[in-house]
Amino acid sequence: MSCFSMDVFEAIETRRAIKKFDPTYKMSPEDVTKLMEHVILAPTSYNQQNWRFVTVTDQKVKEKISVAARGQAQPKDGSLVVILCGDMDAWKTEPLRYWKNHPAEKQEYVKAALERKYADDPQARRDEAIRSCGMAAQTIMLSAREMGLDSCPMVGFEYDELAEIIKLPENHLIVMMVVVGKKAEPALERGGQLPLSEVVFENSF
Ligand SMILES: Cc1cc2nc3c(=O)[nH]c(=O)nc-3n(C[C@H](O)[C@H](O)[C@H](O)COP(=O)(O)O)c2cc1C
Repeated sequence: MSCFSMDVFEAIETRRAIKKFDPTYKMSPEDVTKLMEHVILAPTSYNQQNWRFVTVTDQKVKEKISVAARGQAQPKDGSLVVILCGDMDAWKTEPLRYWKNHPAEKQEYVKAALERKYADDPQARRDEAIRSCGMAAQTIMLSAREMGLDSCPMVGFEYDELAEIIKLPENHLIVMMVVVGKKAEPALERGGQLPLSEVVFENSF
């Protein structure tokens, strides 16, 4: 057995959407880098890595984000706000590099596949951004637990206001944000998970 400080089940079980963060706790730039180095190991279709992350630790910017989040305190009190965005042009932006460790034939195969799937289908591009950022968001939250930190996923914000704060480029979509920090208060009891019998189907519906 390894001597990791936290196993994966424990990280999953102790990840909760925290409402009150300790405003005095600050992550170091190295902590943020370590977190993000793990986040980019999350999977994406064809390894297209169509996510773009804005990491915010500047208190003034975090306060603006709290306003855009309709007054919710998590962004201003948390240590780090990660805004997860999708780049709708990732499928065509030098796609050979997504398989740069592999032979040219593999790279060309993926380039052609990306073009087939996304060139004429904005909905597919948007769906892929949401899938990729969903994977990344959970990876942020579980990595935070490994680092002894807590998190809150958030979509309760004014899209246009947040887009302006982060200077969202053309052809990018904000998918969600995740606040990371030290919790000041534990989460309330879980809302109540539906029973497996209602949500899991064996072999078919
Ligand atoms: C996509 C998404 C958006 C959410 N937006 C908010 C939000 O804006 N504010 C908030 O306090 N919680 C938000 N939550 C947290 C959920 O309410 C919470 O995850 C859910 O109630 C389950 O609780 P748990 O995460 O503690 O297990 C969001 C969660 C997700 C996944």
